[in-house]
Amino acid sequence: MRRAWEIREMFDTIAARYDRANRWLSLGLDLRWRRLMACSLPLDADATILDVCTGSGDSLLSFWQSLGLRVGLDFSRRMLTLARRKARRRGAAPVWVEADALHLPFRAGVFDAVTIAFGLRNLVDPLAGLWEFFRVLRPGGWLAVLEFTLPRWQPWRWAFGFYLNRLLPVLGGWLTGHRAPYEYLRQSIQAFPHYEALQAWIAQAGFQPMALRPLTGGVATLYLARKPV
Ligand SMILES: C[S@@+](CC[C@H](N)C(=O)[O-])C[C@H]1O[C@@H](n2cnc3c(N)ncnc32)[C@H](O)[C@@H]1O
Repeated sequence: MRRAWEIREMFDTIAARYDRANRWLSLGLDLRWRRLMACSLPLDADATILDVCTGSGDSLLSFWQSLGLRVGLDFSRRMLTLARRKARRRGAAPVWVEADALHLPFRAGVFDAVTIAFGLRNLVDPLAGLWEFFRVLRPGGWLAVLEFTLPRWQPWRWAFGFYLNRLLPVLGGWLTGHRAPYEYLRQSIQAFPHYEALQAWIAQAGFQPMALRPLTGGVATLYLARKPV
């Protein structure tokens, strides 16, 4: 398992080319998945939203209709610099916070929703992260986790496995100039719990799992859960 500073350095290293690589490696699907996450949450227009492991800000910025406080948190300074620039270009004004997802610098019960896209797998202790998300959510608040999964349907699972193991490290290395993060990506996706196993972790942290929605045949999955009232 990698240590937190190694993860942070890894994302700092690829930050400048992170967005471009995402678009090419997912053929643009990543933006659609994040928008779907934003649309799936039944939030009021003035809801307060915390996007953990916000990276270059794409998932937080997909809540473009939101009028409430939007906070994007990440421990990679370079990723946050990208997020800040992108938000400015779009005329959006979220609050960007440089901090560790395992020690959120917020009081208990202040957010209506916590979202995390492709970030939970990167935490050195994902369950501790889920506990932190639970703490900062108000009773009745929503959690949305977007994460890669391995498709259940065998032929598609084989095809995605081929892409993950053979093509992704090469293409990721070519697009960013760094192959190691994409080796890490393929290993971490395969080692991380999927579907009901991740839902069980979410439940273990105190949430009521509400839905599990495989996307693009299960290449990614959206998990929704609620903090009990
Ligand atoms: C794969 S990126 C996902 C970024 C963004 N959510 C997206 O959808 O593109 C994972 C992000 O998690 C951040 N991260 C990993 N561990 C973290 C931690 N313990 N605290 C804060 N950020 C963390 C990394 O810096 C990186 O920006």
